[in-house]
Amino acid sequence: MAEISVELTKTPKKKPQDEHHLPFGDIFTDHMFLMDYDEGQGWHDARIVPYGPLPIDPAAMVLHYAQEVFEGLKAYKTQDGRILLFRPEENFKRMNVSNERLCIPPIDPAFMIEALNKLILVEKDWVPSLEGTSLYIRPFIIATDPHLGVRPSHHYYFIVILCPVGAYYPEGLNPVKIYVETNYVRTVKGGMGFAKTGGNYAASLKAQDEAHEQEYTQVLWLDGVERKYVEEVGTMNVFFQINGTVVTPALQGSILSGITRKSTIEMLRYWGVPVEERRITIDEIAQVADEGHLDEAFGTGTAAVISPIGELKWGEKHMVINSGEIGPLSHRLYDTLTGIQWGKHPDPLHWTH
Ligand code: COI
Repeated sequence: MAEISVELTKTPKKKPQDEHHLPFGDIFTDHMFLMDYDEGQGWHDARIVPYGPLPIDPAAMVLHYAQEVFEGLKAYKTQDGRILLFRPEENFKRMNVSNERLCIPPIDPAFMIEALNKLILVEKDWVPSLEGTSLYIRPFIIATDPHLGVRPSHHYYFIVILCPVGAYYPEGLNPVKIYVETNYVRTVKGGMGFAKTGGNYAASLKAQDEAHEQEYTQVLWLDGVERKYVEEVGTMNVFFQINGTVVTPALQGSILSGITRKSTIEMLRYWGVPVEERRITIDEIAQVADEGHLDEAFGTGTAAVISPIGELKWGEKHMVINSGEIGPLSHRLYDTLTGIQWGKHPDPLHWTH
């Protein structure tokens, strides 16, 4: 495997003093990982360097045509001082799925795990230890050719930056209010919905803004063709518990294959809770809510882990779920997944490194 050089900063930053106030995504550590891709040479010059601005040409293709992919995962500090990563191989595997869709050359997941271990060891004192906190890891690849014709770039940067974080939503595990988006769509089958790429998030901003204006936290996305099948909630995968059975939309090209989604399904099956991956219409959700069979609804994602939905608004219809309280299943999943991540809970499915 290629060498990874390390250049340490001469001006370390002050680390956050109060781990109770770690806003999501604002504070960055002292170092970052960087490597270049050049056609003919492949990925090369893997290095850990002081965190700082990138030399980038104003014509760099990513700035114009959004040829980029990213990932999100976390490192957790255990009470006995170890640092755990949660299923990192899944992130780098998925990154190659996104790369393929965006015409970006593949990376070597095993090498990236080695690079990540090395970066996190350099930054080990930045991993917060207060309950509920972690070090958010953001690997991303950007197209850097200075070129304005539309085609895949021939040069890329692969970068990993790190930030100590607390809860993603200010609500924490408290249920969020969501409305069903009937105007905008996030993606369509054949689009990029299954890829983790900035364009999907840019496409979601307008809906999120309008939801905030109406004092909702996020939107529930419907499919872009028939506008009746439930797809995702905000930036998260979505689950419903209907009469004891857990259902989540099947991955059919427009939905991101979340690692927390996958872990939730695997844990539910391990517990013996029935889980179905299938198409779910918003009419079905409204109907089971009316009949009193919608036990719980929640989003899953790396950033917030489990985010219970307390209210779902669809046009004039308001569905209050589990009286707007955190349901027992959401609670158990949150406690179990985060317990495994923070090393407080046995890891029966061997997810942590
Ligand atoms: C997640 O839920 O982990 C996300 O994908 C949100 C992230 C883009 C901040």
